[in-house]
Amino acid sequence: MSNVAVIGSQWGDEGKGKIVDVLSREADVVVRFQGGHNAGHTLVVDGETYKLHLLPSGVVRKNKLSIIGNGVVVDPKALLWEIDNVKKQGIEITPENLMLAENATLILPVHPALDIAMEEARGAKKIGTTGRGIGLAYEDKVARRGIRVCDLAHPEYLKERIENMLAYHNAALKGMGAETLNTIDVYDELMGMSDKILSFSGVTWKAIDDADKAGKKILFEGAQGHFLDVDHGTYPFVTSSNTVAAQAAAGAGVGSKKIGYVLGITKAYTTRVGSGPFPTELEDDIGETLGRKGHEFGVSTGRKRRCGWFDAVLVRQAIKTGGIDGIALTKIDILDDFDEIKVCVAYDLNGKEIDYLPASTVDQANIKPIYKTIKGWKGKTQGARSWSDVPGDAVKYIRYIEELIEAPVALLSTSPDRDDTILMQDPFNS
Ligand code: IMP
Repeated sequence: MSNVAVIGSQWGDEGKGKIVDVLSREADVVVRFQGGHNAGHTLVVDGETYKLHLLPSGVVRKNKLSIIGNGVVVDPKALLWEIDNVKKQGIEITPENLMLAENATLILPVHPALDIAMEEARGAKKIGTTGRGIGLAYEDKVARRGIRVCDLAHPEYLKERIENMLAYHNAALKGMGAETLNTIDVYDELMGMSDKILSFSGVTWKAIDDADKAGKKILFEGAQGHFLDVDHGTYPFVTSSNTVAAQAAAGAGVGSKKIGYVLGITKAYTTRVGSGPFPTELEDDIGETLGRKGHEFGVSTGRKRRCGWFDAVLVRQAIKTGGIDGIALTKIDILDDFDEIKVCVAYDLNGKEIDYLPASTVDQANIKPIYKTIKGWKGKTQGARSWSDVPGDAVKYIRYIEELIEAPVALLSTSPDRDDTILMQDPFNS
């Protein structure tokens, strides 16, 4: 038996919510380890749809411990709002089933204010952030200006830290013509929420260690995707955290050997929200069809996602650099009606064929996908629950993808419904 980390192997929105939900049936503890409320995980459980941003997907199930780890940046207002919202859907959330790392960094109102002002200042060169202040909070953490959950228990120290942070950021806000913030307002707002936030705060690394010692199954739930990783992604068009499974160790406070199986969630085509290179993007009717059939709109921001063919070069790179053991292939049913399907098998960079995504932004913008065209299966994978329900040509497509990415398809998802899943390898028992 091993613990499992679930991460996105493309640019996020691969359908992690459903897969995490399928696996959380088996898990005892579900841990978020990076990102913040920029994430959007949709779960459909017993016909009810839950849209989670910051809360681990385990919260919608009974008798699971959900943990927001130290690697997450937490907007306290957004967290309380989300807890209230989920409670309204009849889900119980208490300090018994939700724990927040006492050493997690907080997102304060100055972070989204700066995020939005900086994006505006970038004009056409904007990153397309979610505007939630994620990157700015991580910047403050690394610059040692951050304010952490545990600081809420020490009002005088908290006030000092806010003053120090605002002295730095107000100059930038003023320079960009944006409104500045004052220490007392920020402090009062935080103190108004501190009791509630602190009631969830705890020593999460110890809770994870205790669960591990007791033989419990731990699921590490990643957010965003491999190519939004600050080191391995399409920098600078990335988020500000490491999204790879290795971050689960640092962002949850466990040894890297505790992670076990790494499952990479992979869409049968490719999507991206926000700006940045996207070699297989389709700005034509096929792209439109993928977006329409796949309901490709962001859960967090409602933005239309850019769509394109499956890029095997990208996914193979995510598998190699992210240590992915197997993939969960999602949304295969969206390809059901196509006469032909293209798969990117290599890139052309200035006339030279390459089999990896180069690091340079300039090169990434210049590469052209080299496609292999495959006959569509023109049959129904939608709702398939066993291999015998999957058309033969679709099986061939899946086998071909496995060959290209050099990893097995451990799980096949054939609709948003939790039961429309074919399990080939149980990540917890691999
Ligand atoms: P930030 O994380 O808000 O700073 O945004 C940085 C980039 O990551 C932008 O291109 C966002 O669209 C993208 N991004 C952030 N969170 C998600 C997500 O959960 N899914 C897909 N893209 C995301």
